[in-house]
Amino acid sequence: MPPAAIAELAQRLAEADGAHALRRRRTRAGTALRPSLDGRQVVNFATNDYLGLAADPRVIDAYRQGVACYGAGAGAAELVSGHTDAHAELEAALARFTGQPRALVLSTGYMANLCVVTTLASRRTAVIEDRLNHASMLDAAILARARLQRYHHLDMVDLATRVAVSPGALVATDGVFSMDGDMAPLPRMVEICKGADSTLILDDAHGFGVLGARGGGSIEHFGLKPRDVAVVVGTFGKAFGGAGAFVAADDLVIEAMIQFARPYIYTTALPPALCRAMTTSLRIVEDEADSRRRLRANIDRFRRRALARGVPLTESCTPIQPVIVGENRRAVAVAERLLAGGYWVAAIRPPTVPAGSARLRVALSAGHAEEEVDGVVDVLAACL
Ligand SMILES: Cc1ncc(COP(=O)(O)O)c(C=O)c1O
Repeated sequence: MPPAAIAELAQRLAEADGAHALRRRRTRAGTALRPSLDGRQVVNFATNDYLGLAADPRVIDAYRQGVACYGAGAGAAELVSGHTDAHAELEAALARFTGQPRALVLSTGYMANLCVVTTLASRRTAVIEDRLNHASMLDAAILARARLQRYHHLDMVDLATRVAVSPGALVATDGVFSMDGDMAPLPRMVEICKGADSTLILDDAHGFGVLGARGGGSIEHFGLKPRDVAVVVGTFGKAFGGAGAFVAADDLVIEAMIQFARPYIYTTALPPALCRAMTTSLRIVEDEADSRRRLRANIDRFRRRALARGVPLTESCTPIQPVIVGENRRAVAVAERLLAGGYWVAAIRPPTVPAGSARLRVALSAGHAEEEVDGVVDVLAACL
């Protein structure tokens, strides 16, 4: 590398360090909810394993059997020879689950969003997004070289004003916002998009499995019809306890993605064994409302106890409960104290969240025990 490029990189790293914004990977051993860090067991409130399915014996067993049947990986991109009956079976189950005509399995949620927007948008398309959408949805509009506009978070007047002057726009929103836990006002968005002939894309990465009696996500939560939303994106890395993602939509959109979406075409298919595991997760998500009830009880318990102890919470009613502390340094210090007490909570700082809104992102799971929920509140209350 040229010395100037080296100096520039070093400078950027030093600036991030000075702003207490350096991210640090911690190497864990063991399963998501109760891993060990440096040989010490901790309770993980920094995982999106909302239903505890990552370590569910039935999911693990399906995975194991899938490996025995297909081997470790897909061996090729889907359009070459990587598409197996395990993928097809999962896609059929997802279409049924979402109530959409067809579904497509993809390697990650990040890529799913890239695929959707690059397929549906051209350079002339206005892509109108909530300002706090996940980075992958915002990046997707940039990759598509579309005309990206960001409306104020949840501001339906701002959205309506923008779609009114951009006929044929794509409107994209997270269902549950990943760093805030609040929800998009989906019924109003459906109305606005219908009125303006806009296409609504819903990224429900944190909604599927968690919201709705059947785990059908934001659409079920609000009592909407599946086809009120043109395109839905879900991920397997959160409530489903695995990895990968899906897009569900009508046949035309899915076929166009298969033909044209470069992040789908030019990448190795999801391992078929993982598809088998995710088909099992999907069945559990649909059939077992019990874990959703346990999750709800943990969310309510956390909120009740935290508020009673003066821990500042937001209005979120989902498993994502941010505790906003403001300065990066403070967020890092509180996270360190929580860890010392045996609780792993992520300190989320800019640029992931707006400047001055660094936070502890407490993520609750059905797999947390009541004493663990109480324990994390005790340490938070002592720090804040
Ligand atoms: C709202 C949202 N969309 C998409 C993604 C990306 O999904 P994946 O981790 O499967 O790439 C995430 C988180 O990772 C997310 O929170």
